[in-house]
Amino acid sequence: MIIGIYDSGLGGLSVWRELRQRIGAQLVYFGDTAHLPYGDKSPGQLLEYFRASLAFFQSRGCHTVVVACNTTSSVVLPRVQHELLLPAMGMIEGAVEAVAAVGGQRIGVLATKATAASGVYQRALEEGLPGSQVFVEPAPRLVPLVEAGLVAGPEAEDALKQYLAPLLSQGIDSLLLGCTHYSFLAASIQKLLDGKVQVIDPAPAVARKVEAACSKAAPAGAGTEFWVSAQPEKFKATAELILGEELPLVQLHTWREENC
Ligand code: DGL
Repeated sequence: MIIGIYDSGLGGLSVWRELRQRIGAQLVYFGDTAHLPYGDKSPGQLLEYFRASLAFFQSRGCHTVVVACNTTSSVVLPRVQHELLLPAMGMIEGAVEAVAAVGGQRIGVLATKATAASGVYQRALEEGLPGSQVFVEPAPRLVPLVEAGLVAGPEAEDALKQYLAPLLSQGIDSLLLGCTHYSFLAASIQKLLDGKVQVIDPAPAVARKVEAACSKAAPAGAGTEFWVSAQPEKFKATAELILGEELPLVQLHTWREENC
């Protein structure tokens, strides 16, 4: 079994690092860096990028794809889940399970503009955790910071303070990181929240769900192919910085927009 992992850029690596510990299947990571950030894109554009990426995953022999991107999971998957080239699993269910495990009642969510506008987390959390109240804050400055490797320091703190303030004023008891890029800001977020709010990274819960769905996915020890649609050297260097480990070669895959 070969499993694809999809995101706009570096964010999906937060799911990848959980997944590779749990399953031995060959993994193919694709970051659509030519179209970053996804949070500013229209539903039509996001669907176009996703369809083109699925064709690429299929050409690499993938049997299924993990959509390690909350934006595509929120905006695209609910519309097209059953008419795709390959089966795809998104972030939302795992994220709701992760919040339920913590038992938060006043739940803050940081997300991209597109995810926030979709209303998906509002609905899924209020339905999955009856009686809870959900406050979603769009945080468009955060993805560019992570893509620049600025996951700690004054720029990150300044942006985080801006987005956390309205959530804290609502008295939140838990905070869902509703964009896979934000996992890499978790330490900075925790520092600012000073233990007062439970920070929830959905990546481990999503990886557990993939593991459960792909239980026959051995053999162990298979590696990962890394691909991006622009600037592979930059992706590799920043990924190594935020992961704290070396990655193998990152390859370039591009497509012509009009063929999407
Ligand atoms: N990491 C993605 C997400 O979880 C996409 C972020 C972006 O490119 O704006 O939403």
